[in-house]
Amino acid sequence: METVLSGIRPTGNLHLGNYYGAVRSFVKMQYEYNCFFFIADWHSLTTHPTPENIQNSARTILAEYLACGLDPEKATIYIQSDVPETIELYLYLNMNTYLGELGRVTTFKEKARQQPDNVNAGLFTYPTLMAADILQHRATKVPVGKDQEQNMEMARKCARRFNNIYKTEFFPEPQNFYFAQEAVKVPGLDGTGKMGKSDGNCIYLCDEPKVIRKKVMKAVTDNGPQTPNSQKPEVIQNLFNFMKIVSSEETFNYFDEKWNDCTLRYGDMKKQIAEDVVAVIQPIQERIKEFASNQQLLDQIARRGAEKARESAAATVKEVRKIIGFRVY
Ligand code: TYM
Repeated sequence: METVLSGIRPTGNLHLGNYYGAVRSFVKMQYEYNCFFFIADWHSLTTHPTPENIQNSARTILAEYLACGLDPEKATIYIQSDVPETIELYLYLNMNTYLGELGRVTTFKEKARQQPDNVNAGLFTYPTLMAADILQHRATKVPVGKDQEQNMEMARKCARRFNNIYKTEFFPEPQNFYFAQEAVKVPGLDGTGKMGKSDGNCIYLCDEPKVIRKKVMKAVTDNGPQTPNSQKPEVIQNLFNFMKIVSSEETFNYFDEKWNDCTLRYGDMKKQIAEDVVAVIQPIQERIKEFASNQQLLDQIARRGAEKARESAAATVKEVRKIIGFRVY
């Protein structure tokens, strides 16, 4: 059976970008594949969280994963820092990865711009840690959103390069997995770019319905369509892209026609989007509360997940040590 792996950085609550880009696929895949879903708390260290932040965020995301439908009986759900084997593989992969290629990664360049006083080596080697996450389980499918394409390319490069250097076929090349065959990018409702924690434009799975409605109603728009069948300006295209993700095809087509015949009222469209988001999120929200209040269950799931993940990672690292030429006891 093929192995699937994916993860999310615990730097706040899950938002709609995480849900539609990744979590929705996780839930679907757990019934068909050998699945590992983890919480990337080491990756979150690039922004120097406090110890309290680290503890609370990992638990929060775990409760949210479960509330979205991840099933610990089907999938291995674990916290990255519970699996020290990852770090050994990370070291080996770093030895085969070059400064030039790491420096060209767009997310690195963006983060370096956003946090010029904290351009640390962990940020620079972020893609090799991600590759270690994936390759330690020899995963072949990785459900991610569009923003992870370049990191995934680096993970494939790490696998290929290791195989070439050691003349082996040990690592399979992991492929991106998309829920509906194409990469998802949930736009921010502020009219620019993607929804993202550091952009402050997120709708969170834990947002109350009235907060969701308020956020959607504030989405940036313009004066409305002026000529029939005209091309949509970027902010309006964003709103339509958003609707395409959260609403039914029928609803999308209805509003698209209204755009084309110049009868579209953005207020109606936003109300519809808000209700469609609330319908998806409300049942998840109720379950988040239940899981978040059961610390014992969360600890038990994390501990069992860690055991299974360590077993899988240790088997890989053992083979890697042999291939490289190190002793194995
Ligand atoms: P992170 O925490 O930024 O995001 C987690 C997942 O959510 C997706 N995502 C989006 N998808 C569509 N539209 C958006 N606006 C949006 N925002 C976020 C991301 O594509 C991602 O799938 N590097 C990863 C975490 C990670 C990882 C891994 C993922 C560490 N190791 C190994 C896969 C495999 C990250 O920072 O994701």
